[in-house]
Amino acid sequence: MAKPPQQTGFATRAIHHGYDPMSHQGALVPPIYHTSTFAFPSVEHGAACFAGEAQGYLYTRIANPTLALLETRIAALEGGEAGVAFASGMGAITATLWTLLSPGDEILVDTTLYGCTFSFLHHGLARFGVVVRHCDMTSPVAVQGALTPQTKVVYFETPANPNMRLVDIRQVSMLARAKGAITVVDNTYCTPYLQRPLELGADIVLHSATKYLSGHGDVTAGLVVCDAPTAERIRLVGLKDMTGAVLSPLDANLVLRGLKTLALRMERHCDNAKAIAALLAHHPLVERLHYPDHPTHPQRVLALRQMRRAGGMIAFELKGGIETGRRFMNALKLVTRAVSLGDPETLAQHPASMTHSTYTPEERAAHGIPEGLVRVSAGLEDPEDLLADFEQALTTASEASAQAAA
Ligand SMILES: Cc1ncc(COP(=O)(O)O)c(C=O)c1O
Repeated sequence: MAKPPQQTGFATRAIHHGYDPMSHQGALVPPIYHTSTFAFPSVEHGAACFAGEAQGYLYTRIANPTLALLETRIAALEGGEAGVAFASGMGAITATLWTLLSPGDEILVDTTLYGCTFSFLHHGLARFGVVVRHCDMTSPVAVQGALTPQTKVVYFETPANPNMRLVDIRQVSMLARAKGAITVVDNTYCTPYLQRPLELGADIVLHSATKYLSGHGDVTAGLVVCDAPTAERIRLVGLKDMTGAVLSPLDANLVLRGLKTLALRMERHCDNAKAIAALLAHHPLVERLHYPDHPTHPQRVLALRQMRRAGGMIAFELKGGIETGRRFMNALKLVTRAVSLGDPETLAQHPASMTHSTYTPEERAAHGIPEGLVRVSAGLEDPEDLLADFEQALTTASEASAQAAA
């Protein structure tokens, strides 16, 4: 006998959850509701929908059936009650925080954050009277000491972009809950295939679905999953009124398509990252490797506990710092020099001058982002081709650096 939908495996849910072709003329692939507005059978029914007294679609900035399918599907994958879709990861982050925070509230965040999240907090929310405080969340003791009665939200990424620091989701969520604060986790790097923060005690999980979830580098999207009442508040306040960061139904369809292959793709991303990390770990030009499943990562035990596998992201520093890093990146032939992550193409970028250029140099130093750090998103190519490209680029960088020093 077939299992009830909520008991099926991850890949099955990613392909089937929330959709029955028989309710849609047998269409195997869900139809796209490419419409901004919806007709009402009567004025009374329309008014009742607006008043929340009747069920029905009104306007795509509030809800749309294609987005609704994506929202139930990501909720089923993260193990949460409800999802909300956004036009970008930043849409998801800003809408969530605009909904949860008011002037005078404090948000406690980890030392290292994605550049635009850092910028939104310090140059956006802070201007409206929200107090932004950082603490080193790799240490639960530091979190405990930093929580105050004003702390409304505890927010972190794990692994953090770009330096791969980890936060113990279970411990930090427990500490936050004991003080009445809401824990929000950016799970972009892992996806629910590798890590499910809600099952570890977090309250809200969010994503840039631009990355692994859509998985093909052809869409920007964001997703939030949490309990149903909070999701409704985020939808009606953060999404509908405060940001208007609405995902297009066409893009929602692309994310739904991406989810169908997420489990397969994540395995390959992890395999390729592991192979690249192994090469880097033994290369004489590499000064430091930041990869959760390597003995040199200080939180490897935590990685193995809270992540299914170590993921597709790697960061490293080369001997000779930023100059050698630049030579290495310019020597890459197959690996693409580009920001973003989670695409089929392996991507390499320089956080200090790209994704984390929103920090000043002094801020980068204080927030654990070395100037010479190179970030790699391992793609889906054949590993031997990637390794050959890394090998030749490291050799070229090494020779060029030796020449420059001579
Ligand atoms: C960890 C993380 N969170 C959020 C975002 C923002 O997502 P988007 O670019 O879809 O707005 C990014 C983008 O790179 C990211 O890396």
